[in-house]
Amino acid sequence: MNINFPEGFLWGGAVAANQCEGAYLEDGKGLSVQDVLPKGIHGVRTEEPTEDNMKLVGIDFYHRYKEDIKLFAEMGFKVFRTSIAWSRIFPNGDENEPNEKGLKFYDDLFDECHKYGIEPLVTISHYETPLELAKRYDGWRSRKLIGYFENYVRVIFERYKDKVKYWLTFNEINSVIHAPFASGGILTPKEKLTLSDLYQAAHHELVASALAVKIGHELMPKAKIGCMILGITTYPLTPNPDDVIATMIKDRDTLFFADVHARGKYPRYMNRYFKQHDIHINMEPEDEEILKNTVDFISFSYYSSNCETVNPDLAEKTGGNLSRGYKNPYIKASEWGWPIDPKGLRFTLNKFYDRYDLPLFIVENGLGAVDELVDDGKGSKAVIDDYRIDYLRSHLLEVAEAIEDGVELMGYTSWGCIDVVSASTSELKKRYGYIYVDRNDDGSGTLNRYKKKSFDWYKEVIATNGNSLLNS
Ligand code: BG6
Repeated sequence: MNINFPEGFLWGGAVAANQCEGAYLEDGKGLSVQDVLPKGIHGVRTEEPTEDNMKLVGIDFYHRYKEDIKLFAEMGFKVFRTSIAWSRIFPNGDENEPNEKGLKFYDDLFDECHKYGIEPLVTISHYETPLELAKRYDGWRSRKLIGYFENYVRVIFERYKDKVKYWLTFNEINSVIHAPFASGGILTPKEKLTLSDLYQAAHHELVASALAVKIGHELMPKAKIGCMILGITTYPLTPNPDDVIATMIKDRDTLFFADVHARGKYPRYMNRYFKQHDIHINMEPEDEEILKNTVDFISFSYYSSNCETVNPDLAEKTGGNLSRGYKNPYIKASEWGWPIDPKGLRFTLNKFYDRYDLPLFIVENGLGAVDELVDDGKGSKAVIDDYRIDYLRSHLLEVAEAIEDGVELMGYTSWGCIDVVSASTSELKKRYGYIYVDRNDDGSGTLNRYKKKSFDWYKEVIATNGNSLLNS
C-alpha cells in the first residue's frame, strides 16, 4: 500500500482544559459544569465540587504545561489541540470584563507551543460551560447564551489572533442531544427535557457557532475555523432494507450538525423529523443569515462504530461514546466496551468528504486502556503499551487509505496525548496517552510523567510523515 500523508500534515495530540488543567479555582477561575460532575458525563451532578472529582486537580497541566509541551515537541508535534476554559476568562460567563489572569495563562501556553514550532488548535467550548450560566439560564436552552458566547469569542479572538490559526467552535456539538448538562450546561434533568427543548438548545449552539465563524473571519482573515462533530459511524446490522433506512435516519442525528455547518442552512430532511416528533424551534429572523457563515473545515472525533437494526432481538446493545447502537459481530471491543473498527475511520472520512468536499481534520482518536507502569531497566519507568500502538497503527493505516481515496485531510490529533481524566467516567485509569501520568483514581500519585513505548513509536511516525507505519 502507499503512504502519502501530504506535506505539512498536522500531526499532534489533543486534550481539553477541564480534563487536564486542574487548578479549578486558581487565578480567578469560576466553576464550570465539569467541576460538579464527579463521576463524569455518565454520572450525577453535585451541588458543589466534591473532593472525589478527579478533574479538580486533573494532571496539573496548569502548572506543568511547560514540561508537557517539551515532551510533545520531542515527539515532533506540529499541532496541539486544547480548549480554553471559558470560566477562566469569564468566571460566571456573563460578566462584561474578562479575567486577565485567565487570559494570561493561555498567552503563556500558546507562546510555549510556538517556542517549539507547534501550532495550537483551540476548541472554544469543550464541555465547559460556566456553571453560573447553567444555574441562571439553564445553559444553552436560553438564547441569552448566544450573546455571552459572542462576548467570550470576541475577547479570545482579539487576544489570540496572532497566536492561534486553527479554531474549533463546540466540541462534539451533536452531543448536546445525548448529554445536555455536560455538553449544553442544561441543568434541567434529561428525563424532563423534550426533544423540542434539546433541539432548541442545539439551535442556539448552531447559531453561536456560525456567529463565531463570522466574527473569526472578520477579525482573523487567515484563520481556519472548523466545527467539531462526534463521529458516530453506523452500519445497517443486516441487508434488510428496513435496517438500511433505519441507519440512514440514525446517521442524520450526526449529519444534521455537520450539514448546517457546511451548507449554512437546515437540511430539508429535518422538516419531516421535526414534524414526526412534534419538535418546534423558535428561530429569530436573523438566524438564517447567521447560519450562512459556513466553516472552513470539518473536524470530528472517531473511536468506534456500531450497527442499527429495526429488530432488536438480533443483537445486543454496544458500549461506546455518547451515542450507542447494536453490536457488530465482526468487531472486537476495548476494555471499556467501545467497538474497535479502523476501517470505519476510512469509511467516515470518505463519507464526510464525499458529502461536503471540505478539508477534514481528525481531532480525536485513540484507545482508553489500563496501563501498567514497570521498570524500564534504565533506572526509570515505562509502559509497554503495544495494544495502544496496534490500535493507533491500524487506524492510521486506514487514514492513509482514505488519503489514497482522495480525501483531503489537514491533520490528526490523537486523543489524550498525555493521560488525562476521562470525560465519560472521570477515571484516570482509562488512559490514552503517549505519556503516563502518575496519578490514580484515589487521588494518590506523584504526578510525574513517564514515556510509554508508544511515545517513541509516534515520534517515528511523525518523523517519517507516516511511512514508518509500514514497518511497525
Ligand atoms: C470525546 C470527548 O467524546 O471522547 C473527550 O470529546 C473524551 O472529552 C473522549 O475524553 C474520550 O472519552 P472518555 O470518556 O474515554 O474520556
